[in-house]
Amino acid sequence: MNALPTKLETLAIHGGTPARGKLLPYGRQSLDDSDVQAVVEVLQSDWLTTGPKIGEFEERFAAWVGARHAVSFSSGTAALHGATFAAGLGPGDEAITTPMTFCATANCILYQGALPVFADVSPDTLNLDPGEVSKKISSRTKAIIAVDYAGHPAALDELAELAKTQGVLLIEDACHALGAEFQGTRVGGIADLTVFSFHPVKHLTTGEGGMVATNDTRLAEALRRFRNHGISSEARERQEAGQWFYEMVLLGFNYRLTDIACALGLSQLGRLAENLARRREIAAQYAAAFRDMPAIVIPAVREGVVPAWHLYPVRLKLEILGVGRREIFRALRAENIGVNVHYIPVHQHSYYRERFKSHESYPVAEDAYERLISLPMFHAMTAQDV
Ligand SMILES: Cc1ncc(COP(=O)(O)O)c(C=O)c1O
Repeated sequence: MNALPTKLETLAIHGGTPARGKLLPYGRQSLDDSDVQAVVEVLQSDWLTTGPKIGEFEERFAAWVGARHAVSFSSGTAALHGATFAAGLGPGDEAITTPMTFCATANCILYQGALPVFADVSPDTLNLDPGEVSKKISSRTKAIIAVDYAGHPAALDELAELAKTQGVLLIEDACHALGAEFQGTRVGGIADLTVFSFHPVKHLTTGEGGMVATNDTRLAEALRRFRNHGISSEARERQEAGQWFYEMVLLGFNYRLTDIACALGLSQLGRLAENLARRREIAAQYAAAFRDMPAIVIPAVREGVVPAWHLYPVRLKLEILGVGRREIFRALRAENIGVNVHYIPVHQHSYYRERFKSHESYPVAEDAYERLISLPMFHAMTAQDV
């Protein structure tokens, strides 16, 4: 790898040599031989799917996040769909969510024929602002869907209180926040339903995959049926009991996670604490590096919160910079530094604009979007990469 450019060197965007020969991605998985071995063992076993690894992964995961139940899904998006189904969302219902997220958080409301109602975010964390949520509550509200943006838990105490007072469910999209802590408790056992993703850029990967954690046995049962076509028993249970009869009791999907994926998840779970610790070191290194740079606003961390750092999104103080976000983004990419932008506010996507033709604005999310740049953040990054 080349040395970092000194201030006298020409930037790559101006024709200089890039700081790195190869692109540093903004996120990526790390797998070791034990992961490969775990997958190979399943490939050589009797069950590639609907087998014993699923329950084993779910139990170990539930214990790790501190929830009574965990139900696996084929992706974080499928898990979100499971959550909106289990929460009972349907046509005529509304769910309040944040515009500062990946579109899947709002799409899962539409999958159930319900209406997403956006509420603006807090300026420090860019998480759902409980004050804004309370303004959006109506008799049609069925759920609040908070996102733990970048891995910093949402204001779960205030949102849970609000949900309880209104008699609605709190769904936490913790796809960024596996291992994050809120007032001494890991996310997973706090909201009514907590959703995780195992995409390769996340803290733990199964390729594609997701999970819903809940303490509610009835919700867990609904999730299990929903991800298996709405069928009331599992194939392995029937095989072991020598039974052929099964009943489809509701309209579900095939959202099952395979035993191959669960074996990988189990193996990765063993290194999760280590990976989280490494992400926290990287965040501390970035924070120290930007301490004396007034043009860079680093992510806020509220008291009582330990973030999981899926992303490291900084905000640019454009007022004191001579160039815009676009130029800085392009310059970093030219240096082979794989920055990204999280997120284009959901209501600004053309599908949402054309479908809802809403003129509502969310000033905090919209202003943040103009300034955000996510710096590379993954556990295998070296100090030199940072
Ligand atoms: C906040 C959020 N929710 C949901 C998802 C969807 O997860 P998946 O990619 O596993 O479907 C993502 C994916 O990155 C996400 O960032």
